Amino acid sequence: MRTILDLHKAPIGVFDSGLGGLTVVRQIQEHLPRENILYIADQLHVPYGGRPLEEIKGFASDISRSLISSGCKAIVMACNISSAVSLKSIQTDFPHLPVIGVIHPGAEAASKSTKNGRIGVLATQGTVLSGAYTAAFASINDQFQVTEAACPKFVPLVENDQCGTQNALDAAEEYMAPLIQAGVDTVVLGCTHYPFLLSAIRAIAPEMNYIDPAVSAVKNLITLLESHHLRNDSSLESHCILSTTGDLCQYKAQVCRFMPSPYHYEEIVSTIIQDGTSSLIRLFAGIL
Ligand code: DGL
Repeated sequence: MRTILDLHKAPIGVFDSGLGGLTVVRQIQEHLPRENILYIADQLHVPYGGRPLEEIKGFASDISRSLISSGCKAIVMACNISSAVSLKSIQTDFPHLPVIGVIHPGAEAASKSTKNGRIGVLATQGTVLSGAYTAAFASINDQFQVTEAACPKFVPLVENDQCGTQNALDAAEEYMAPLIQAGVDTVVLGCTHYPFLLSAIRAIAPEMNYIDPAVSAVKNLITLLESHHLRNDSSLESHCILSTTGDLCQYKAQVCRFMPSPYHYEEIVSTIIQDGTSSLIRLFAGIL
């Protein structure tokens, strides 16, 4: 039987449709260096952005359940679209487990940053369609003017290692146009993949404030872990396991590019998610 002591050491489960969630893993490692992490990139199904919302809800639910059944003590839905469609139901189904998303933390950070009350959101088609950011901003201040732009070219650019290309600049110019037109002073990077494209986006509008929701999401995570008495204070070195539902060889090469030193990971493995369980079960058992 698992003891309270074990529970502190249990990993934080993090997932995304692909590489984007590594931006969240990096934030966790920076601010919670003692925590163990189990990350799933659902590259079998990436990109999520253009898929029906019900389908994404199914993926997010299956992955969350598999992380929980693998022994995770908390879940971070790094993926914006998953947070938009699935966060509430997982929080309802697992009321005693810290489960956090990125949409509300991102909206709160942007609300604090804007001076003129005009905020832009760059996101996937699904996230824009869900209306989750608009609803989050309305719950904070209904006077904000929010302009959302769907950016279907961005995720394939990141997954295919084209962040520094002319294609990335062209796409950034296209997607930033309505935000510039609307006079926004603050832009939410409403998809975990987009921080990897920040240089291209910033080149189009250097004067704007860019918000990565991962930063405030990790602050929320710290608060929740503390209130649940789940923070890992062990002096042992932490472990991070990165897994993909997609091609393992390709993922290994991608991770090397996106997780440079000082970020670390012990193992890169493949996983299969089926009916809320995964082949990752007990992966940490031999380590901790
Ligand atoms: N990175 C995910 C998000 O934050 C989804 C990207 C995609 O697969 O389309 O919404």
